[in-house]
Parts: sequence; structure tokens; C-alpha cells
Amino acid sequence: MTVLASAVGHTTTSEDSDLMPRWQDEVRRLAIRRHAVVLAHNYVPPEVQDVADHVGDSLALSRVAAASDAEVIVFCGVRFMAETAKILAPDKTVLLPEPEAGCSLADTIDADQLRAWKAEHPGAVVVAYVNTSAEVKAESDICCTSSNAADVVRSVPGDREILFLPDQFLGAHVRRVTGRDMHVWLGECHVHATISPADLRARVAADPDAAILVHPECGCTTAALYLASTGDLPADRTQVLSTGGMVEYAKTTTAPHVLVATETGILHQLRSLNSSTHFEAVNPSAVCRYMKMTTPTSLLRSLRDGTTEISVAPDVARRAATAVRRMIEIGSPSRGGE
Ligand code: 13P
Ligand code: SF4
Repeated sequence: MTVLASAVGHTTTSEDSDLMPRWQDEVRRLAIRRHAVVLAHNYVPPEVQDVADHVGDSLALSRVAAASDAEVIVFCGVRFMAETAKILAPDKTVLLPEPEAGCSLADTIDADQLRAWKAEHPGAVVVAYVNTSAEVKAESDICCTSSNAADVVRSVPGDREILFLPDQFLGAHVRRVTGRDMHVWLGECHVHATISPADLRARVAADPDAAILVHPECGCTTAALYLASTGDLPADRTQVLSTGGMVEYAKTTTAPHVLVATETGILHQLRSLNSSTHFEAVNPSAVCRYMKMTTPTSLLRSLRDGTTEISVAPDVARRAATAVRRMIEIGSPSRGGE
């Protein structure tokens, strides 16, 4: 298995395989038989992360999907991620083990709403976070993830108007780090929006020496950076990072305590990579129900029965591919949102 974002690897040894429970053997056996690669986002349940070939953030997994020579991509994550894989690899079979695994943030804008917004700003460049439907991507000029959003915005010529969607907190963060004046859609993720400034203040008051990692989708991002600038949070120990950036941080940090503001699934990777540091959630109830839908049972069913195959209409896929390919060309896989 490789842990991306990007990647540290650990290879399963024959000794490990002797100890593996049966369902994991079965996943490996079926994956080989189907010529499948199993990709898992950093937020899915730990046991699914552990059996995957690659674990990572949205950008890193998109890159793996684009480069993979497997015939089948099993995406343990949510629908927009599987659609992105299909857009990048239209000739491959892409499976999403749980067809109901959606994304509240992606649901905040549809293609009709985007077309209406574009009509109000003719000539503007549309930068769409990858957490969007394939139809919205097809209406966009370039996609980004939390790993490369600032680099993507910097790539837009300075004299062009920008429509940034759909996440208001990521948009505010990118506006701050790039200094670009952008129009930002007022969408939010129901999980990250609830990680509030109050949560952050309470956790920091209880653990004043801890380092702080904040995902840019969080409702507390602006507050975290404001408090860092006023000295209420330690500026040298407060960072805004994508999940991939958090994984990179965990590999090298010597901080004894780290408070993590994002979906709690990331803690599994952070703790596995660094057992000397104590990683804790800023809000332990920040759990994405969509990310938790993929279980060992649904992964096995997906590999056995070929469910659920993701399709994207060819004209939508073709237009979305341009925006997605621009995204994967920009920004280092290991950097955070700035
Ligand atoms: P990453 O881009 O950091 O993988 O985050 C994706 C996501 O869905 C955040 O909620
Ligand atoms: Fe979407 Fe939020 Fe879940 Fe990420 S955590 S998949 S943005 S609902």
C-alpha cells in the first residue's frame, strides 16, 4: 500500500499476509483477478484505508487514477472523486462501492446555477474545486483541490475576473494567500463548516503548547489565521493544509501534541505515520457520513459484482477533462493550500 500526498509506502510482507484477516485476503485476491487498483481517501474507515493500494488526498488520488495501468479503479471515497477518475481514465471501469456516497459541498451548486453565475460575469475564469459534479466541471475552466488551489488561482492572468466555487472558506483562504480579488460561491461542507472558531479556542485553551493543523474548508480557518496574527494562537505552530499536506507534516514533525481540524478519518494516517506525536481532533464529531459508507463488505461486493460502475456522458467528460487535466498539472502533490 502507498500512502500518498503524497506518498510513503509500505509494502505488505509475506509475514503480514499470514496474519491478515480473511476479508483482506479476499480483497487482494479479487483485485488481482479483476486487474483492479483500490484507491482510498484519507477520510474512509481505517480498515478500508489499510487494504487499499493507495491512500491519499483528492489530488494525489486523481494523479494515480490518471497514471494507472489497471483495468478497473475501485474508488473508496465519494462520487465526485470516482467521477474525476472516470473523466481522467474514460476507457477504464471505475467502481464506487457505495453509490449513495455523495458530498454536501458538491451539492451546493449545479450546472444551471453555474451557467447563470457565468452569465452575470461574462469572460470570467471559472475555478472549480474538485468537490463538484462532472456537469459543473464541464462548465469550468480549471479545477483545483485544497492542495493546489492557491497555485491554480496564481496561474490565472492578473487582469482576468475569477469565479471561485463552491467552498466559501477555501475561497476566503485562497483570496488571503494570493491577494486575488475573486467572486466566491457561498457553499460549504456540512462537516468542516461545523468545526468552529469556538471549538478551536476551547481546544487550544486546554492544550496551549499544541501545534494546530487546519483544513482550508473549515469554518474556523479565518479565525485560526486571525488568532495566529494577533498572537492568540502560536503563528509558528498554526498551519492551513490539505489532508495530503497533513500527511507530509506527520512524517517529519517532532511536536509532542498536534490538534487537527478536519474530518476525523485523517487521524488514522497521521497516527500510523508518527507514533511519537499525539494527534487529536479539534472536533471529534466532525465525521463525514458519506466517507464512512464504504465498509469492508461494500468493498468486497464492489470487487465481486462490479458495483457500482460510474459513467459520465461523453460530451460532459470531454469538457470536464480539460479543466481536470489543467488541475493535475499544477502544484506539488505534497504542498498544502498555499
Ligand atoms: P482533500 O482535497 O484534502 O483530499 O479534501 C477533500 C475533501 O473532501 C475535504 O472534505
Ligand atoms: Fe464532501 Fe465534506 Fe464529506 Fe469532504 S467531508 S466529502 S467536502 S461532505
